[in-house]
Amino acid sequence: MLQINLPRLPEIETKRLLLREQRLSDAQALFQLRTNTEVMRYIDRPWPKAVRDSEAAIRTINQQFYTGMSLVWAITLKDNPDLMIGNVGYWRTDLANHRAEIGYMLHPDYWRQGILSEGLVAAIDFGFNTVGFHSIFANINPGNDASRQLLLKHNFIKEAYFREDYYFEGKFLDSEIYGLLL
Ligand SMILES: CC(C)(COP(=O)(O)OP(=O)(O)OC[C@H]1O[C@@H](n2cnc3c(N)ncnc32)[C@H](O)[C@@H]1OP(=O)(O)O)[C@@H](O)C(=O)NCCC(=O)NCCS
Repeated sequence: MLQINLPRLPEIETKRLLLREQRLSDAQALFQLRTNTEVMRYIDRPWPKAVRDSEAAIRTINQQFYTGMSLVWAITLKDNPDLMIGNVGYWRTDLANHRAEIGYMLHPDYWRQGILSEGLVAAIDFGFNTVGFHSIFANINPGNDASRQLLLKHNFIKEAYFREDYYFEGKFLDSEIYGLLL
C-alpha cells in the first residue's frame, strides 16, 4: 500500500501559477465555477445550491487529504494568489494500486492560455515524483474535446470507452478513460 507522508498539501509554484490548498475563503469562487454552464457542460455532477455547499465541499476535500484520499490544489496566478481561478488534483486515490484519478477545471476567462497545461504538468510531476503514484487516469465525458486534447497533449493514452456506465440525472452516460504511466 502506498503511504502518503505529507504533513500538509504543499504549495507548488510554476512559471505563472501558485497551486495551493483550497481555503474556505475560496468557496465563492468554487461556487461560481461549479455553477458556470460553460465549465459544467461536461462535468456530470450536481451543482451546489449555495456558497455554503461549496464551503462544505472544500472542507471535505481538505479532510480527505489527511486520510490520503485526495490531493486537490486551487489554481491561482502568482500575482493574485487569493483569487482561485480553477483547481487541479487527485480527486480519488487508489493507494493499494499506487494510482489516482486526476481532475481539473478553470474559469473560462482563462481558457486557452496554457494555464491548465502548466497546472497539470506540476500536478503530474508531484503525483509521480513526490507521492509515488505509478499510474494516473482521467475519466471524461466523450463530448469533452477540450479535456481530451489537453490529456493527449500531455501524453495520456486512451485506455477505455465505457458505454452507458454512469447514471446521472435520469440518463446513462458513456465515459472515456485516459491513462498515464510513470
Ligand atoms: C479542459 C480545460 C481545463 C482546459 O484548460 P486550458 O487552460 O484552457 O487548457 P490549455 O490552454 O492548457 O490547453 C492545452 C491544450 O488542450 C487543448 N484544448 C484546450 N481547450 C480546448 C478546446 N476548447 N478545444 C480543443 N482543444 C482544447 C489544446 O490541445 C491545447 O493546446 P493548444 O492551446 O496548444 O492547442 C478547460 O477547458 C476547462 O476548464 N473546461 C471545463 C471543465 C472541464 O471540462 N474539466 C475537465 C473535466 S474531465
